[in-house]
Amino acid sequence: MTHPPAHSEFSPVTLPPESLTARPDPRRFPPRFTWGVATAAYQVEGAAREDGRGPSIWDTFSHTPGRVKGGDTGDVACDHYHRLEEDLDLIARLGVNAYRFSVAWPRVQPTGRGAVNPKGLDFYSRLVDGLLARGVTPWLTLYHWDLPQALQDAGGWASRDTAHAFGEYAGIVAAGLGDRVRHFITINEPWCAAFLGYGIGIHAPGHTDLARSYAAAHHLLVGHGLAVQAVRAHAPGAQVGITLNLYEGYPATDTPADRAATRRQDGFQNRWYLDPVYGRGYPQDILDLLGDASPHAQGLVLPGDRELMGAPTDFLGVNMYSRAVVEDAPGDGWLHSRQVRPEGSEYTGFDWEVAPHSLTDLLLRVQRDYDPPAVYVTENGATYPDTVEADGTVNDEARTRYFQMHVAALQPALDGGAKVGGYFAWSLMDNFEWAEGYEKRFGIVHVDFGTQARTVKASGRWYADFLARTHAEVNA
Ligand code: FCB
Repeated sequence: MTHPPAHSEFSPVTLPPESLTARPDPRRFPPRFTWGVATAAYQVEGAAREDGRGPSIWDTFSHTPGRVKGGDTGDVACDHYHRLEEDLDLIARLGVNAYRFSVAWPRVQPTGRGAVNPKGLDFYSRLVDGLLARGVTPWLTLYHWDLPQALQDAGGWASRDTAHAFGEYAGIVAAGLGDRVRHFITINEPWCAAFLGYGIGIHAPGHTDLARSYAAAHHLLVGHGLAVQAVRAHAPGAQVGITLNLYEGYPATDTPADRAATRRQDGFQNRWYLDPVYGRGYPQDILDLLGDASPHAQGLVLPGDRELMGAPTDFLGVNMYSRAVVEDAPGDGWLHSRQVRPEGSEYTGFDWEVAPHSLTDLLLRVQRDYDPPAVYVTENGATYPDTVEADGTVNDEARTRYFQMHVAALQPALDGGAKVGGYFAWSLMDNFEWAEGYEKRFGIVHVDFGTQARTVKASGRWYADFLARTHAEVNA
């Protein structure tokens, strides 16, 4: 297989204009392509204190004044826990063939250890049955950030014990649901859990300590390895992988200094996770930059960890929202690099640059450098301020275009040899967007948080229509 050279070797900062007007061709996707929508437990479920669910770090964090915009919490969220059947019907109506959701660990084990809470596991069992009855394949994420608070009180991910508890929990879920769930994602975005949660403190548990964030990152990856083993043991034949949030990097100018800075940024964001998951241990350049804060220097890397973190997986999940344009910035933090905001680009409501061609570059690069057996885009989407018309409709033209451009960007990646097996739009519906509360909407379905009414947006209608055309092609 041949791939184009790494983009950072030659790419200009300016976006190829054709990528911004590209539209996907339903005829050009493989017949068994996975088309899905995604959510995460704390963002949609609500019912935070029901049926024996224990508190998670996100309950604690969101209830701490000043942590989440507007004082919003996930107490009710989309009330999905009580509206399961209605939401399953909605998923089926969109015409997707897969649904990615996460299991709330504190529903299954309220304190993160010990006896199973049957009512908690039963909710996911009903969810899985409901999906299968509608012809939708469940994709289950074991950890999407809602660590049981009791484990946090004992050190959270900074403690290796949490990784072992996670392995046990993974075994419980795999044993309980693995007869019907054939796709497991261990951890969602360890970079966010470690860096945002322990490094800069804008996510739960809200710590600001570089060394601790790298302790957390290490134990998240060890936990991933233990969970892979647990899924293999309790759900033989199921597929298992991890989901990373990756940003392809581009130097702000074509100079050695900016190229080197881009490489450092890439190490921090991407290779720190990709290298160990593919059995290579941590990248030396980043270990050197971290110095005393590295997991090795902290004495946290035990014999066998490299093999554990590199436990063979069946697929890589990639969450992609934007790219990173990077310049050299001596003295700026420990990375000595800075992300710049290219002028003339389009930006989403999060101020994330719209860079669909970087999805193509990223998928080709990951295939070339790591050769995963399969790659799934497990999240991709955009927030924009939506306007609800008098008749309740939302004509989210910018979001619709965002999805069109990014789905179209899969095609050259497939043509170039990337083993892309599927794509999940983030998100099924507007939900609790972590530190941003309910203000930032990512849904292809609008949620009125006063009435809990769901209304499919124009982007959702486009996706459904596109999938119907894809399906028609497959059956033609
Ligand atoms: C990702 C998270 C997901 C959602 C999107 C916008 O980092 O995995 O839960 O918040 O960003």
